[in-house]
Amino acid sequence: MNETDKANVEKALGVEISNTLFYKCASKKVKEIDGQKLFKILSKVENEHASVWKKILKLDKIKMEPPESCVEDYTADLNDSHAREERAIKFYGEAAAAAQNPRVKEIFQAFIEVETDHLKLSEERLK
Ligand SMILES: [Fe+2]
Ligand SMILES: [Fe+2]
Repeated sequence: MNETDKANVEKALGVEISNTLFYKCASKKVKEIDGQKLFKILSKVENEHASVWKKILKLDKIKMEPPESCVEDYTADLNDSHAREERAIKFYGEAAAAAQNPRVKEIFQAFIEVETDHLKLSEERLK
């Protein structure tokens, strides 16, 4: 990996940790069962993404911090989710385009697909 790829992968790890913690928080805070289930699944997927970056960076442990805040209001958390997924998609697109390492490029491209599915999950509920 060159310096740019490494910096982007490190940033991506931070994004995935932040999103994992946000979704975990939201899954415990919302009253709606649909929301609890949705955010629990999303937290699990983002945690898996964090693990992929962890492996690429050859780290043996990652710190799940700092804590992320969320609110009890389902719609507000869906809006937060939407903004988070939009940011991830935009950044991953830039990182994929800039990537020199083929494996890193491939992962960024694959994650764009997954984050786009996540974006749709909040969009269909915010309609
Ligand atoms: Fe992710
Ligand atoms: Fe996502």
